Amino acid sequence: MTVAPDAASAVAAAAAGVRADRLDPTLYDPTLYDRLKRVIPPLEWAIHAPLIHEINRLKRERAAVILAHNYQTPEIYHGVADIVGDSLALARKAVATEAEVIVLAGVHFMAETAKLLNPDKIVLMPDLDAGCSLAESITGADVRALRARYPGVPVVAYVNTSAEVKAETDICCTSGNAVEVVESLGCDRVIFLPDRYLAAYVAGQTKVDIIPWAGQCEVHERFTGAEITDYAARHVGLTVLAHPECPPDVLKVADFVGSTARMIEFVQNRRPAKVLLVTECSMSDNVSVECPDVEFVRPCNLCPHMKRITLTKIRDSLVSLTPRVEIDPAIAGRARRAVERMVAVGK
Ligand code: 13P
Ligand code: SF4
Repeated sequence: MTVAPDAASAVAAAAAGVRADRLDPTLYDPTLYDRLKRVIPPLEWAIHAPLIHEINRLKRERAAVILAHNYQTPEIYHGVADIVGDSLALARKAVATEAEVIVLAGVHFMAETAKLLNPDKIVLMPDLDAGCSLAESITGADVRALRARYPGVPVVAYVNTSAEVKAETDICCTSGNAVEVVESLGCDRVIFLPDRYLAAYVAGQTKVDIIPWAGQCEVHERFTGAEITDYAARHVGLTVLAHPECPPDVLKVADFVGSTARMIEFVQNRRPAKVLLVTECSMSDNVSVECPDVEFVRPCNLCPHMKRITLTKIRDSLVSLTPRVEIDPAIAGRARRAVERMVAVGK
């Protein structure tokens, strides 16, 4: 079957040396650019489209699946990802996949989580340097010191931590299930690490006494309550949705607080006329493609780690089947147990 590609696809196909009428519709959706043109200019699309075609071919050849976080750029999120979601959804879907190769379009701790849950599969991380300021804020030795200071108090670790840290903890959580996980332990007190702002948010939602760590997300900590109030004053009827990694003064002025997936669901189901997603910038692009009737007001804070992942790096990792994520066997078992305990909560 041949397709009538749009003008931008034709330019892209020419750039890739593919005849426009020979784009394989099973590898490249000719209507894709129609949806993405609100957020990707034609000249950029000319670079992306042949890479999308090639990545979709490689995925088929390698029996690979691409898991992409909601902060990935629209050409990755809408062009090549098989599964998109927040950290919790990506962890859950990583368990369910039958693919032999998992490409994690996200940051390093997400790829480690996928590897912990799929020890026999190849997990590719297109750029091993895609880190996270929260994961870098704490080490396994720090957790051991906390345990010595608070004997018998269980440790809940946000998934935004290294496998080395997870191995020292009792259970993981994400922003999507943090309160549920804390309460599942049935204790009066828990150590909650490493995000001080998520810890403060959880403390406000539960009677459990929360002992925090002083980590923070370098993207969300930059938002301020005054900035959000100013946006609301300038945009009448604005609905403000905030991620719980934001400081408390931001959450105070938000209409809704939730994980990236909960924020997306809110927009998809409630269709606010004007919305401000107080989180990483690409998410507004991704959701606006699906909700063209909603106006997105954007303070643009980008995560430099998420932005290290590009179509070119995804293509290269599928060609070479590297870089692979490997976890030291001395810590993998204990770290896996903490992630599996989290996945079991709420099932
Ligand atoms: P979510 O689990 O809500 O997607 O958050 C992950 C993250 O890194 C937020 O900065
Ligand atoms: Fe880490 Fe913040 Fe980037 Fe999320 S947005 S990956 S928490 S630095």
